[in-house]
Amino acid sequence: MSSGEFVSKCTADSLAQAAQLLKDGGLVALPTETVYGLGADATNQNAVSRIYKVKGRPADHPLIVHIHSMQSLDDWADEVPSYAISLARDFWPGPMTLVLKRSILAENFVTGGQPTVGLRVPDHAVALALLSAFEKIGGKGIAAPSANRFGHVSPTTAQAVQEELGECLEERDQILDGGPSAVGVESTIIDCTSDSPRILRPGAITIQMIEESTHLKVSKAETDIRVSGSLENHYAPQASVFLNRTPKPGEGFIALAEIQTPESVIRLASPKNIEEFARLIYSALRAADAKGLNSVVVAEPTGDGLALAIRDRLMRASKGR
Ligand code: TXA
Ligand code: MG
Repeated sequence: MSSGEFVSKCTADSLAQAAQLLKDGGLVALPTETVYGLGADATNQNAVSRIYKVKGRPADHPLIVHIHSMQSLDDWADEVPSYAISLARDFWPGPMTLVLKRSILAENFVTGGQPTVGLRVPDHAVALALLSAFEKIGGKGIAAPSANRFGHVSPTTAQAVQEELGECLEERDQILDGGPSAVGVESTIIDCTSDSPRILRPGAITIQMIEESTHLKVSKAETDIRVSGSLENHYAPQASVFLNRTPKPGEGFIALAEIQTPESVIRLASPKNIEEFARLIYSALRAADAKGLNSVVVAEPTGDGLALAIRDRLMRASKGR
C-alpha cells in the first residue's frame, strides 16, 4: 500500500514531470477552481480504468475531459452548435462542462459508452499549466472526475485528496497542491446536443448567465439527469446530514454567519455569503467526520444561482432528510 507523491510546490519542472507521468499512464490529482480532480490521459484506456478502480466508480459513468483551451474542442467533439461556442467563449476557462456529440477520439472507456463527451477548460493556473505541458508532449486531454471515493464528499484541498485516495494510489502517482478550490462546488454541466441548452448539474455558471450568453431559453430543469452526481447518496460524509432544522446538543451545524449557534452545538462553518458557503461546504462536511460527529445540520442558503447548486448537493448528501 502506498500513497502517491504529494507535490506541494508546482514549478514548471514539476508540472513537466507530472505531464510525463500522465503520458506514461500514471494518475495525477490536480487542483481546479471547482474541486480537485483525479486525472489520467483521456486517450489511455489502462490509465482511465485505474481512475474507476481508485474511485470505486461504476464503469458506465462518463468522465469529464479537461482541455487547455477551446481550440481543442474540435478534437473531442463533432457538430458543435453555435450556442455552445458562445458558452465556451464566455465562460472558459471556468466552472462549466459542455456535453457534446463525441468525436472518434472520445472512446467508450471515457464516455461510459455514451455518444457524447463532457468537456471543460478549468480556471486554475496549475491545471492550465499542466494541460499545456501535457499538450506539448502530444497529450490531447485529461480525464478527471472529482478526486473522491464514489459517493463521498468532493475534495477542495490536496490534503483532502490524500485522505480520500492516498492509500489507493500507486507510489508513482502524484497529488498536486494548488491551494483550496476557489469555487468549491462542481462545474455546471450543460447538455448541448439539442436545439437549446439543458442543465444537467447546477453550478456557478447559472441559468441566467447561460441564457444571456446564448439568447436561448434553458429548456429543462436540472432534475432529469442520468449523471452519477444525480444519484441519491452522493456528496455524502459518514455523518448523517439533516437540512433546515434546529440542531441538538452535540450535533454539527453549518449556516450563514448571521445565524446563531444554539447551545452545545458544534459550529463547523459560518460563511458570510453564498460564495463563501460554496467554498466551505465540503470542507465543513469533512470536518464533521474528522470530529467523529454522528450528525450535522445545515441551514441551506436561499435564492437561485450558486445557492441552487449548494442545495442540489446538500439534498443528495442528506438523501432527502
Ligand atoms: O467541476 C467539475 O466538474 C469537477 C472537476 C474535477 O472538473 N469534475 C467532476 O467530475 O465533478 P465527476 O466525474 O465527479 O462528475 C462529472 C459528472 C458525472 O456525474 C458524469 O456522469 C457527468 O459529469 N458527465 C460526464 N460526461 C458526461 C456526458 N457525456 N453526458 C452526461 N453526463 C456526463
Ligand atoms: Mg464527483
